[in-house]
Amino acid sequence: MDPAPLLARHVARFEAALDRLTPPADTRPERLHRAMRYSLEAGGKRLRPVLCLAAAELCGAAPEDALPAAVALECVHTYSLIHDDLPCLDNDDLRRGRPTVHRAFDEATALLAGDALLTHAFVLLSTAHADRPGLAHALIRELADAAGSRRLIGGQMEDVLAEKRADVTAADLEFIHRNKTAAMLEASLVMGGLVAGTPEPTLTALRRAGEHLGLCFQIVDDVLDATADQATLGKTPGKDARAGKATYVSLHGLETARRLAAEQTEAAVRELAAVPGDSAFLRALVASLARRDR
Ligand code: IPE
Ligand code: IPE
Ligand code: MG
Ligand code: MG
Ligand code: MG
Repeated sequence: MDPAPLLARHVARFEAALDRLTPPADTRPERLHRAMRYSLEAGGKRLRPVLCLAAAELCGAAPEDALPAAVALECVHTYSLIHDDLPCLDNDDLRRGRPTVHRAFDEATALLAGDALLTHAFVLLSTAHADRPGLAHALIRELADAAGSRRLIGGQMEDVLAEKRADVTAADLEFIHRNKTAAMLEASLVMGGLVAGTPEPTLTALRRAGEHLGLCFQIVDDVLDATADQATLGKTPGKDARAGKATYVSLHGLETARRLAAEQTEAAVRELAAVPGDSAFLRALVASLARRDR
């Protein structure tokens, strides 16, 4: 199956909702809201929202019902990128093919735009599902947990600490990837399942699929940093090696990194196949993500 046509439909649906569900650029203070939108509207692959919409559909909901969750996920993801690019973290000048927020605006604005996007995600979930408090609670809990100190931020902390260490092990690196990247991909699939009212065994399969996909996705991100050019990446290549980052490429070499990514992809596809319903689109999407370094 070619995932491209349905992918395009999910992205278009998501981008219309993103516009509707985030404060207009002329909201006071304008500079802040312009910075939030600058980065949200720069594009990106929209992987997390698409996973959420597709998981909702797989589990029997209308994808439209998962739009607030999809927008909330992209707000948290975009905030994490704005902060990841700041001089005190990865110090990057380019993101999604454009100057990073602290370059296009300034550091204070980038910091605050990130803060505001993080908070907006939870305003959105709590207001959009005010009529289903049980669902609002489950979605907020899932996203907050993925974005918190044990997961996304914990992974980012260990990523930073690993730059100064010469003794980073494969297990340390897996911890970093599992948390800084896989946590949000797990939450994307699980939140789609929650919107559909999916019961526990299926949520667990979705979570496992997201975990394997997340590991594959970050390994491929590391491979691309080492191999791709700026036009393809929309970010500056070769940064990980220059910063002395612990990556799958620095620790295992390119060939092994590619093999490990392929293994994680297979595991993700297996988990998705175990979910009742038609998972052909999600399986094809996951397979295509593993090949984005070719
Ligand atoms: C970048 O995420 C950060 C990682 C977790 C590797 P994406 O590669 O999904 O970035 P966008 O959203 O497409 O810009
Ligand atoms: C993932 O790691 C970043 C986040 C989870 C925010 P990277 O630092 O490798 O991501 P890129 O390469 O800058 O997109
Ligand atoms: Mg980083
Ligand atoms: Mg980075
Ligand atoms: Mg990277």
